Amino acid sequence: MNELLSFYKNKKVFLTGHTGFKGTWLSRILILAGAEVTGYSLEPPTKPSLFEQTGTAGQMNSIIGDICDGEKLKAAMLAAKPDIVLHLAAQPIVRTSYKDPVGTYETNVMGTVNVLEAVRACCDLSLPGSTRQSLKSFVNVTTDKVYLNKEWAWGYRENEELCGFDPYSNSKSCSELVTHSYRNSFFAGADAPAISTARSGNVIGGGDYATDRIIPDCIRAVESGSAIVLRNPNSTRPYQHVLECLRGYLMLAKAQYEDKTLAGAYNFGPDDESCVTTGGLADLFCENWGSCASWKNVSETNAPHEANFLKLDCSKSKSVLGWHPKWGIRDAMQKIGEWEKAVQGGTSAAEITDKQIKEYFV
Ligand SMILES: NC(=O)c1ccc[n+]([C@@H]2O[C@H](COP(=O)([O-])OP(=O)(O)OC[C@H]3O[C@@H](n4cnc5c(N)ncnc54)[C@H](O)[C@@H]3O)[C@@H](O)[C@H]2O)c1
Repeated sequence: MNELLSFYKNKKVFLTGHTGFKGTWLSRILILAGAEVTGYSLEPPTKPSLFEQTGTAGQMNSIIGDICDGEKLKAAMLAAKPDIVLHLAAQPIVRTSYKDPVGTYETNVMGTVNVLEAVRACCDLSLPGSTRQSLKSFVNVTTDKVYLNKEWAWGYRENEELCGFDPYSNSKSCSELVTHSYRNSFFAGADAPAISTARSGNVIGGGDYATDRIIPDCIRAVESGSAIVLRNPNSTRPYQHVLECLRGYLMLAKAQYEDKTLAGAYNFGPDDESCVTTGGLADLFCENWGSCASWKNVSETNAPHEANFLKLDCSKSKSVLGWHPKWGIRDAMQKIGEWEKAVQGGTSAAEITDKQIKEYFV
C-alpha cells in the first residue's frame, strides 16, 4: 500500500463533514486505508448525494449531528477516542452565505469553536474518556478565499492578510483566527495535539451535486439538453481535482502527527497551468463530454460580489510536506468524464470512486 495510506491503517480518525462531497471522498480514502473512521455531520447537503450513492454510511461510524450542538459533538468525539481530527463541516457556498450570513457564521465560526472545544475535552485528563495520549493531530479545512483578495497576479502565501470579502469567505477567515487563538492558548504544550489549517482551491470531481458550482452546473445542463450557463466566464480560479487537496490534508495531518513543529497554515492549490478561467474550464468539460455540450455567457447585473482572480502560492506545502499537484486540470476533467459515464453506464458510484482513489494513490 502507498506509504501515506499505510500510516492511516488502524488509526482512529474523527471527521466532520463526512456526508459532503469532499467528506465522502475522504471517508472512502480512509476506509480503503484501513482507518477506523467516525464521521459527524448533518445529513448529506444534496439530493442525490455521493455519500448515499456510495453507501459510505455502512462502512464507517456515521453520526448525524450539528456542530452547533457543542455537547453532542463533544460526546461523539470523546467516545471515538480519535488519534486525528479533520474538520470539514461548513456552510461552503458563497451565494448561500449572502442569503444566510447568520447561519453561515454560526456554522463556520461557532461550529469551529465547538470542534476545538471537543478537541480540548479529548485532551483533558480529568474528563472520563479523555484520549490525551492518542489525539495528536487536528486539521481545520478552510479555503483559498480566506485571504484579503487584492486581485493581483501573484499567488497568496500563508503569511498574507486574512479577510474574505463575502460572508462565506470571511467566516472562514474567522475560523482561521479562532484556530490560531486556540493553538496559542490551549495547545501550546509539547504533549498537546498539533493544530493546523489547510487552504485549498475550488475542487472538482465525480459525484458533486451542489448548486452554484461549475461542474455540477455543467452536468445538469447537458443532461437536460441545454447550454451551460456561466455567470463569470472570465474569472480565474485555482481548480483542482478533489483528491489533490485531500492528499494534502492527509499529508499534513501525518506530518504534524510525527513532528508537531510542522503545524501551521498550508496552501494546497494547482500549478499555474491549471488555474483557468471558468469559461476555459467549461471548454474543457465540453471537450471531454462530447459534441452536445456548449456554454453561454449570462453575466448578471447586480450579482453578488465574487473575486475575479484568485491563485495560491503552494511553495510551503511543496518544500515542507513534499506535496505536489499530481493530476492537472486536463487529468481532472478526464476523470470527471470517466466517473459520470461509468455511473450512467451502470457501474456503482462506490466502485468508480474507489477505482479512481486507487489509481491516484499508487
Ligand atoms: N468544494 C470546494 O470547492 C471547496 C473549496 C475550498 C474549501 N472547501 C471547504 O471544504 C469543506 C467541505 O466542502 P464540501 O465541498 O465537501 O461541502 P459540502 O456542502 O458538500 O459538505 C459540507 C459538509 O458539512 C456538513 N455540515 C454543514 N453544516 C453543518 C453543521 N451545522 N453541523 C454539522 N455538519 C454540517 C454537511 O452535512 C456536509 O457533510 C468545507 O469546509 C468547505 O468550506 C470546499
